[in-house]
Amino acid sequence: MGYINVVLSFLATSTISVSPSDNNYDSQHKLIEQFLTVRNLDTAILYTCWSLSDRVIYMKKFNEKKIAVTHRKKEDFYRDFSLNDLFTITEYSPSLGIIIDWSCHDDPLFKFSESWLWNASYHWLMMMRKYSNNNIQSFISSKKINLTVSSEILLAYPNEMDDTNWHIFDIHRTAYEPRGKLIIDVVNKTFGKWGNRLWKFDKRSNLGNLTLNVVTIGNPYGASAKKNGTDIQPSSEELVKYLKTFNLDRLNSVQKFSYGIMYPLTRNLLNITLNIQTTNSWGYKTNNKWDGIVGMLISGEVDFSISLNALRSERYDVVDYSAISTWKHLPCFIFRHPRSSTASTNIFLRPFESAVWFSIICVVILSGFVYCTIMHYESNQMFSLRVLSDIVLLKIGTLCQQGTVMEPTKLSNRLIVLLMFVFSLVIYQFYSSSIVSGLLRPTVMKIDSVQKLAESGLDVGVEDFNVVVKVIEVYGEVNPYLKKIVENKIKPKSEYLLAKDGVKKIKKGNYAFFTDPATSYWLINDIFTEKEKCDLTELPLHRSETTGYLVQKKSPYRKLINYANCILRETGLMDRELRIWHAEKPKCTAGKTTTEESLVSVGIKDVASLLAFLIIGFISSFTILILEIISHRYKTNTPIIVKKITN
Ligand SMILES: *[C@@H]1O[C@H](CO)[C@@H](O)[C@H](O)[C@H]1NC(C)=O
Ligand SMILES: *[C@@H]1O[C@H](CO)[C@@H](O)[C@H](O)[C@H]1NC(C)=O
Ligand SMILES: *[C@@H]1O[C@H](CO)[C@@H](O)[C@H](O)[C@H]1NC(C)=O
Ligand SMILES: *[C@@H]1O[C@H](CO)[C@@H](O)[C@H](O)[C@H]1NC(C)=O
Ligand SMILES: *[C@@H]1O[C@H](CO)[C@@H](O)[C@H](O)[C@H]1NC(C)=O
Ligand SMILES: *[C@@H]1O[C@H](CO)[C@@H](O)[C@H](O)[C@H]1NC(C)=O
Repeated sequence: MGYINVVLSFLATSTISVSPSDNNYDSQHKLIEQFLTVRNLDTAILYTCWSLSDRVIYMKKFNEKKIAVTHRKKEDFYRDFSLNDLFTITEYSPSLGIIIDWSCHDDPLFKFSESWLWNASYHWLMMMRKYSNNNIQSFISSKKINLTVSSEILLAYPNEMDDTNWHIFDIHRTAYEPRGKLIIDVVNKTFGKWGNRLWKFDKRSNLGNLTLNVVTIGNPYGASAKKNGTDIQPSSEELVKYLKTFNLDRLNSVQKFSYGIMYPLTRNLLNITLNIQTTNSWGYKTNNKWDGIVGMLISGEVDFSISLNALRSERYDVVDYSAISTWKHLPCFIFRHPRSSTASTNIFLRPFESAVWFSIICVVILSGFVYCTIMHYESNQMFSLRVLSDIVLLKIGTLCQQGTVMEPTKLSNRLIVLLMFVFSLVIYQFYSSSIVSGLLRPTVMKIDSVQKLAESGLDVGVEDFNVVVKVIEVYGEVNPYLKKIVENKIKPKSEYLLAKDGVKKIKKGNYAFFTDPATSYWLINDIFTEKEKCDLTELPLHRSETTGYLVQKKSPYRKLINYANCILRETGLMDRELRIWHAEKPKCTAGKTTTEESLVSVGIKDVASLLAFLIIGFISSFTILILEIISHRYKTNTPIIVKKITN
């Protein structure tokens, strides 16, 4: 065994005599092993200059450390082969080490093709030849190494004096060429041998005043710029000025909030200068083409968006999201809930259930009957219509806690009247207090679905703001009631209003306004009275959408923005900006304490039934009077009957 080894290594040294750094492979192996263990890589592809026997020996050593290595030849670089076959990345092994020894692969003609991978999944260790390639910049451009801020590339130069030491450089660019600049970090014992870092962007979060193109929505020239066929393109400076200004009309507050976050995030935490552009669409797919922000990201015009977008699954295929925000996007119908009309018509019947009404009537009839019977036996009085009506009057009178002229003289009858008085006293208390409490706690029409809104007869309007209008359009396709509302109430009158006009209509009542509450509640808070605030109701069409910033697919800046966003959240800056720009639903204090405004007056609707009752009574008594007069005339013509009655 030992003999074979000796022979093999002899053969190896004689064949690779071209290698200038002869057989100092133990130190190479040590370097590679340290690199792979520190980076937690358990699979690696080696392009080394080792002989076959060296390979066997070192592979065994790697395997003892549970590292799987594959030896490849430099033909990989020339021949057509599938990158995916070779550099497979799975979720079980999400990163791969690639080690190249340039001392035997350095061919001046060799360049990496554009499809080579330089993203964070591939950890490269390039062992350089002594003295050669001292100019790292020219080495990188000669090999067409396409670096960015997330690339993981270490260059290791052997020490001139002793072969066991290496000078190691960690290189990356702040952006793909031609933008950005090349950053070369020295990695040595002072700085921690392998880059003493908690995570990769520890030392990479200062991008050195890199200028990136970003996009936002909105236009300082307002809606006129949109309606006029020619879009006015404001300059970056004009946009910044606009995004920083605070207007009372609260237009575009989500963009201003986003800028309030993105400016410190890029300027102070990442050292990026923004070149802001604007567009007028948030990015929707029409005819297989994306417009607005998403379209600009796909075409590479801009690197990321500085305006929050709702996270939608259909966009995941073409762009990535970064920095999930606490801003909630939930446009909804806002209206003052109308008082219920069905409840107020029977306000006078509502206090008792029908069984109670029925038993009260029974008690009255029963007591009338008993009264009548007693009277009959005790006084031998003839039963007549007049007596009956007297009794009815008496009973109703006691029920209403009133007396009548009819005076019960007998003890037993007095007892009955007394009991009726007590009974009516209790019943009356229940009845009147129930009516009072019913008025204090007005029943409202419960509108908790689009269907009920459609049936409620409220007028409906929509805020003239592209996201909000879009939501109505999208949900109108799926919800037939919403479609009806849009077609019958919104489109014919073209009820697309600015938030400040819509809010005034809500105040007047009987109006549902579809708007983004994040801004509208500011306006509502300004002009609504306490009572009107208490009436406010929201009717959302969907769950609230999470928002985040869009970045290019596989953008190298995604993690950096995420990280900086977390810092802003920790420091409380996010909360501060949110309180400045995102309105809360106005608090209803009147609901808790009774104020002058919270007392409800009885409306004409409430007493209409009573008035009707009275009028019907008048009419019927008048009719009876007429009938009586007629019958009286009739009777005077027939004196026999009159005589009998007067007797
Ligand atoms: C790097 O690119 C490969 C191949 O396109 C991909 O599978 C992998 O997810 C990428 N890694 C990162 C961190 O983006
Ligand atoms: C570098 O890679 C990026 C992303 O894959 C690509 O957009 C860019 O064109 C490449 N640059 C060069 C010089 O190959
Ligand atoms: C490590 O690099 C730094 C910066 O180049 C240098 O000042 C220091 O002397 C180096 N340390 C060693 C041990 O090489
Ligand atoms: C940003 O980068 C520039 C250029 O490299 C540098 O002069 C400046 O000090 C950096 N700013 C911060 C806050 O690090
Ligand atoms: C950063 O870059 C911008 C635009 O290139 C420039 O106006 C600004 O002065 C630079 N800032 C620093 C600190 O270098
Ligand atoms: C559109 O805007 C341009 C530039 O402000 C203006 O000259 C033109 O009159 C506008 N057209 C209409 C129809 O308003």
